[in-house]
Order: sequence, then C-alpha cells, then structure tokens
Amino acid sequence: MISCIERRASPFKTSCLLLAVAIFGMTGCEDGSDPNAALEQRVDELVSQMTLEEKILQMAGSGSNGAPFSVPGVERLGVPAFEMSDGPRGVQAGGGTTQLPVGMMRGATWDPEVERRVGEVMGRELRAAGANILLAPTINILSHPSWGRAQETYGEDVHHLSRMGVAFVEGVQEYALANPKHYAANNIENTRFEVDVNVDERTLREIYLPHFRAAVLEGNAASVMTAYNRVNGQYCGENQHLVREILKTEWGFDGFALSDWILGTRSTVPSALAGLDIEMPVTMFYGESLLEPVVAGDVPEELIDDAIRRMVRKKLQFRLDEPSPVDASVIASDEHLAVAQEAAEKGAVLLKNDSAALPLDESALSRLAVVGLLADTPNTGDTGSSNTSPSFIITPLQGIEEAVGSALTIDHIGKDTLDPADEAVIQQADAAIIVTGLTSDDEGEGLIAAGDRLELGLSSERVALIQNVAALNPRTIVVLQGGSAITMGDWLPDIEALLMAWYPGQMGGHAIANLLFGDANPSGKLPLTIPRSVDDLPPFDAESTSVTYQYFHGYRHIDREGLDPEFEFGFGLSYTTFAIDELRADRSNAGADDVVRFSVDVTNTGSVAGAEVVQLYVTYPGSAVARANLELKGFKKVLLEPGETQTVEIKLPVNSLAYYDVAESAWVLEGLTHEVHVGTSSRDLPLSTTLTVEEARPVALY
Ligand code: BGC
Repeated sequence: MISCIERRASPFKTSCLLLAVAIFGMTGCEDGSDPNAALEQRVDELVSQMTLEEKILQMAGSGSNGAPFSVPGVERLGVPAFEMSDGPRGVQAGGGTTQLPVGMMRGATWDPEVERRVGEVMGRELRAAGANILLAPTINILSHPSWGRAQETYGEDVHHLSRMGVAFVEGVQEYALANPKHYAANNIENTRFEVDVNVDERTLREIYLPHFRAAVLEGNAASVMTAYNRVNGQYCGENQHLVREILKTEWGFDGFALSDWILGTRSTVPSALAGLDIEMPVTMFYGESLLEPVVAGDVPEELIDDAIRRMVRKKLQFRLDEPSPVDASVIASDEHLAVAQEAAEKGAVLLKNDSAALPLDESALSRLAVVGLLADTPNTGDTGSSNTSPSFIITPLQGIEEAVGSALTIDHIGKDTLDPADEAVIQQADAAIIVTGLTSDDEGEGLIAAGDRLELGLSSERVALIQNVAALNPRTIVVLQGGSAITMGDWLPDIEALLMAWYPGQMGGHAIANLLFGDANPSGKLPLTIPRSVDDLPPFDAESTSVTYQYFHGYRHIDREGLDPEFEFGFGLSYTTFAIDELRADRSNAGADDVVRFSVDVTNTGSVAGAEVVQLYVTYPGSAVARANLELKGFKKVLLEPGETQTVEIKLPVNSLAYYDVAESAWVLEGLTHEVHVGTSSRDLPLSTTLTVEEARPVALY
C-alpha cells in the first residue's frame, strides 16, 4: 500500500507513508491507481469535513504550546498542530540541543553531503524537542557583507547557495518540515520591516530567487517563510507576484507559505489573495478579520481551501500526529556533536600561511601565547532568532589546552589591551595565537540584536591588538571569528597565518585546535569575497527605506569592475598541495537531458591527506545581455590521501546557462560558445574548454 503514495518530500524514508495511511485512515491504492491521487483524496476528505471557522483558525499562529510557536490543527479530525522552532544553527526548542556552526561557516565547507547531515541533526533534534517545522534554512543571498544576518546564510553565489540549501532541506525533511526563508530579497536588517527593494525582473529571477526555486523544486521544501520587506512596492507577505504567481503557480509549490513574525503580515484580504497561508506568530490580520471577507465573498473560499489543503497535505506526508520518531537521547548526542565538529573543521578557511607557520608542531614548541578577549569567550554568533542554548561551548582556549595537555606551556592573555608584562610573555613565546574578530555586538538580527554592520573592518582596539602582538612575535597567527567578510588590509601583512574560524558552534574550540595542530587539514573555501575596502562593493545603506538592488554583487561586481579582492570567492589554503589536470567534456547524453559531464584529475601532491574543492565557472563571450565575467556553475569536494589521484566529475545542465528575458517572460539559452574554466578558486582556474550551444532556444525552467 505504501508504494502507492508518492511523496514529493521524503519524510522518514520508507515507512512514513504506511503510517500516514494508518493515522489518517487513508485507504490504499493497491489497484495501481495514481499514488498522489490517494493522498489528495484523503486531503480533500479531511478538508471537506472542516467548518469555515476551523479552516480559518489554522491560518494563524496561536502563541506557544510547548514548542516556541504553534499553529492549531483540528483535533476532532485528528489533524495535528504545527509546532515551529528556529533555526539555522541549531534547534531552539527545548534547549541543550546541538549548536552547529553558523550557515556561513557551513557554506564554507562547500560540502553538501556534510550539510545534508547537518540538516538531519536538526530535523531529528527538532522532533525530539516536540516541534515539527524548523524555521530554517536562511537562504537569502549575501548581496552585501554588511547584512546583519549574513552569518545565517551560505554565501554570495546563487549556485553554491542553492546546492547547500537543497542539501539542508533534504536532511531536515528526513524528519520534519523545513522552512526556507526569507522569501525574498531580505538583505538589510536595520530597515527590514519597511524597506522597499526595487529590483528588476531579471535580477530578481537570476540573483534573488534561484535558491528558493531550488529549495522548492529540488529539495521539495514543505513550507516557505515570506520576508518582512517589500519587493517592488508590495510587502512580501502580500506580494501577488512573488507568492501566487512565481512560488505557487510557476514553480508548482505544493507546500504552504507562512509570514515572518510580527509585522510580517500587513493585511487581510491582499495577503490571503496573494497566497499567504499562515499569519505568524499570532492572529492580527487573519482570524475573525479574515472570516468576514470570506463570508462576504471578497476572498473566495476556494483560496482558503487551497491553503488548508496545502497544510494538511504536508501533515499527512510527514505524519505529524504520530509520536516523534526520535526520543530525547538524540539531543546533543555524541553523534550529533561529532557532526557539529566536522562541519567546523571542514568550514574553517586557511587564508594565509607564510613560512608554513601552520600546522603547529607541538614537539618543536615549548611556550604558546594565546591572546585576546575572544580566546576564552563563547562566541557562536547572533543573539537574535538564530540563537540557541547548548549545554556547553568549547572555547578556542579550552580546545587548545585539551589538545596540548602537558606537552607545552600555554600562556593565556585573555584581553585585547596589553600591559608590559603581557608583552614580555608574548615576546618569549614560540608562537602567538590571537583569537579575535566580531561578536553578536557587531552583527546580528535587526531590532532584537546588533543589526547591520556599518564598517567592514575590525574595531580599532582589535586591529591594534593584532599589530602589537605581531610586532612582538614574528610567529603570529590570527584565528578570526565573524559571520561575513571582514576587511583586513591594515593588519594582514603583519601576521604569518590567518585561519577564518567564523562562528564555529559549540564544538568550535576542538575544531580550531585540531586545525592549528594539524590533526585536521583545512579544506574550507570562501563562500564570499573579502574585498580590500568596502568601497569596492556596491553601496549598502542600512537606514534607507527604499533601495535598488543591482544585478552585480560579490565576485560578479569585483570582477566586472576590474578590482582585486583581498581574498577571492572560492579561495582557501590547505596543508597539502594539489595538482589538477586533464579537463574533459562528455556531452554524449545531449538531448532532452542536455547535461555535459566535465571531469578533471585531481592529485594530492603533498604529504598529508587533504580535501580540495574543484570549481567550475562559465563565461558568456558575445552574450546579448550583461553577464558576469565568470559564474560558478558546479563544484565538488574531494578527499585525497597523499599521492592519490581521483577523477572528479561535475555535471553541467546546459539549460542552467540561460538568462531571464524580461520582454518574453522566459528563460533563454543563447546560441554561444561559452568558455568553461575549472580550478580551485574564482581566480585560480588553470583549465579551460568551450561549450557551444548552436542555436538560441527557450528553456522552460532550469
Ligand atoms: C525572523 C525569522 C524567525 C522568526 C521567529 C523573525 O524575526 O526574521 O527568521 O524565524 O523571527 O523567531
């Protein structure tokens, strides 16, 4: 019976639907009839038994019922409630859950397989904590590193963001409903409740929406959260174009849309007509206020039925009224903590390593100075909605101390301003490790936390700390924390090594120690551009209530302007070296499924195991429209033992080279000889070939 019901989402692997059948009295389709039809039939049966009042009640949050945020079901019909909890770096509900590195650090892993497991960790812990919708992932593109919530998302590139977002959604949805957010163009914090984002249709389609489409069409996300801001004059929660036309009609999204929190819903009739299915977190515009226009015929009851059908469909698919499939023992289990540490080890980015300063060789050292206020301060990110409360956090100092044991002496100077005694200690040390960067006082969610970053550099006090330590000890290593790009020209030349450690989650201290001492080999790559100056980026106005988003940002902008970044998108060093050669292209399966398989041989030419990220970029010489000089279109991370060679294959769907033709309201693949460049960062692309599309053609949806 189970096989007769197709699940677009993949809750609970195989046994789920059988139970859904049992729970909701769904009867089978052993006769071989359309599996989806059986599900839809049961949805219809349930919805038809609901009164209008019962339906309307399900369209708004009702405060908290254990999990942070609840939305009622219909008890008499056995239709369970939704119970929601943030968020992107761990489950908030219950407390004591595993705290993972922030999204940006996970983006820096360039490893969707790890991200899928991260999603599974959160999905499992969410269900164990009694909730069923995880308010994550945050997949707003990083259009400017000043965005206060930069740390929650995965980076600045459309393709990379899509791959990471899909992986997370798939992982979560093994257990619970995911909720990609904030749809769409939510890229400023300070004015997020009112800012009107003016964005042309092509930019919207190519830069601000593809990752949402991927989350919905590929990841089968069960729900989507609309953003606070306006897009082209309309608040997202009542934006016909975004919700009704694109998300629900064009993409065929079969889940439901819920608003962002207070001020995320702005109206009754326009929101309902636009397709906003749930007002969160409590009733302000829906409830009674929605009942009246429905009764008066201003909101067709079919729209209400459609909203309820979407929710019930997902409740059936995810069998939400069953007891949780996991118990509390999964929360912060060793297995989950190991995933948190793995993500931190794989997401840290080694940005500088002069004279092979790293890894530190314990046997060649006797005294190590660990300096800075952040060395022994839990510093895991924003205190806004993405905050979680783990039962412990390993600081960098704790990690280092545990790693070295009694093998060497650690001199801890836990402050940012040095006195003469500190200076003497630093001078005598064999190496100085400074832990510094940003904290939740510098960046975070608007209004409830620090908001946008108005400067991209470190505070003058922290710059001075780095400069002072570097002047005292030639072997100065900086472990840098933060959730986004940090400009560093004023201190970078002074130091020997730099490890970007982001906000690494509760196991971060162990991960940092393993990387510093070579028990783990850095393999993270920047998921964003680190510019030399904020002036090298498009403007960012955190106080404006009306902004225009341009097509070019991040590396697309830097490349187009002919600027050199401090560190380019895709950059990251390793303790080993790699050779990459023999680019081949196989288009033998061209046709309906026009996918080119590019492959290269990657060899670990050093003496320790390490992972490299092969990156594939495309250029569009002679395009009829303005295009980025280079666009990431594929990547793959590969782990290699010393001396090992592996062939890495990257599949490129040719349709993904299309642009959005506004006049035709269609995706168009140009007849062009595209250049394809392959390498290990957006500025290190030694291998090239071409990919010719003979004739332009429209493309349905890529
Ligand atoms: C945030 C959302 C979050 C919600 C619930 C809002 O302020 O923008 O990302 O999920 O609060 O905490």
